[in-house]
Amino acid sequence: MEKFFVEKSPPLKGFVNIGGSKNSVLPVMASTLMSGETHILNGIPDLSDVSVMFSILSEFGVTIDWDKGNSHMKINSKNIFNKEAPFDLVTKMRASFLITGPLLSRFGHAKVPLPGGCQIGSRPVDLHLKGFLALGAKVSLEHGFVEVSASRLAGSEIYLDFPSVGATENIMMAAVLAEGETKIQNCAVEPEIVDLANFLNACGANIEGEGTDTITIHGVKYLHPSQHKIIPDRIEAGTFMIASAITKGDIILKNAISEHLKPVIAKLKEMNCLIEEAEGGLRVSCVGIQNCVDIKTMPYPGFPTDMQAPFMALLSVVKGSSVVTETVFENRFMHVSELKRMGAEIKIDSRSAVIEGVDSLTGAKVRATDLRAGAGLILAALVADGETEISDIHHIIRGYYNFEDKLKSLGAKIRME
Ligand code: EPZ
Repeated sequence: MEKFFVEKSPPLKGFVNIGGSKNSVLPVMASTLMSGETHILNGIPDLSDVSVMFSILSEFGVTIDWDKGNSHMKINSKNIFNKEAPFDLVTKMRASFLITGPLLSRFGHAKVPLPGGCQIGSRPVDLHLKGFLALGAKVSLEHGFVEVSASRLAGSEIYLDFPSVGATENIMMAAVLAEGETKIQNCAVEPEIVDLANFLNACGANIEGEGTDTITIHGVKYLHPSQHKIIPDRIEAGTFMIASAITKGDIILKNAISEHLKPVIAKLKEMNCLIEEAEGGLRVSCVGIQNCVDIKTMPYPGFPTDMQAPFMALLSVVKGSSVVTETVFENRFMHVSELKRMGAEIKIDSRSAVIEGVDSLTGAKVRATDLRAGAGLILAALVADGETEISDIHHIIRGYYNFEDKLKSLGAKIRME
């Protein structure tokens, strides 16, 4: 299995182009099951998670032309058929569960494997199912499969106990062709929710309130062909911001949307980084970085949980004592033991970790336990004395396209073997 080898690198400098958002393209692709028309998508990142969703949709007869070189996809779901979702593919990627709402909407039935938990938590889908029940579906859980069916879906009011991103997306998709009005209260407000709503409205849906804590969906009878450009990936952008910060570099992110990065920008500014719109992108200059900070992950617009591991890598080498609190997932500190192998001083107390910044880390053999933990380890390795060998990098390439080449172009000493 391939590994990343990373050596201590100079301050990163130069330009890096941010790709389309993984967490936006996956629900948008899943939603095309509903329409039976042709949709043109631009800004498609070439990621292994996107390949998994491609394979799943193809299993249902969706035809997809994917022009990876131009980040362009043409999807047609006219001649699709319903079937049991493929177990091996769906259990490979949790986001696959997002096909449930669209299948229920198109066919009045869906049978999808219960997505497994993963390294970061049990990842239940009870809120998704609560929404389907409210829309009039029958829901059964048997032999590890979720089966939902409804002769018709009728609009309803749904309150989410937690502003779950996936539940908001699945329920919104199931409601688009339902009869009447659906209100999702205490819903997620992430930019990826807004992007999905924008895509669906471009197809003729009637969705209001996206980006606020209450989304209203007025059911329509039909979705028509559309074109859409996926928003840039705010987590890839944030990861490169930390790459600049940890190496005291000065980089420019092309195609990043600063509005989507406010909590990360705020924290880096507290650490004396200079962040400004410049040269057609977002300049992140951290030559004068100091002051450690505390972070507490929260649903958007709070500090993103997906940035927790990369930011912890940074705090490991900034002088002072910091506290990182993870409130979104129950087990998202798997990277701590790996960072400690590199000399980081971190103590976990339930959902918080206390980090004492050290003068330097040392290269070691470490393992990527999940996507964002792996990214954090690479960032730590950029400033560790000696060479760091990172295994299980399949996690990393799920969500970062050409991560190695992009880092290399900024001056990082990284290779894949
Ligand atoms: C999405 O996951 C993202 N994935 C995650 O990104 C991200 O970390 C997460 O949102 C939070 O922002 C995609 O968009 C594909 P949730 P999702 O439902 O939808 C609990 C990455 O690295 N919950 O908002 O699965 C759940 O257990 C990935 O790119 C329920 O209790 O996240 C968790 O504690 C990792 N019941 C919390 O809500 C439910 O029915 C947040 O989960 C659903 C969720």
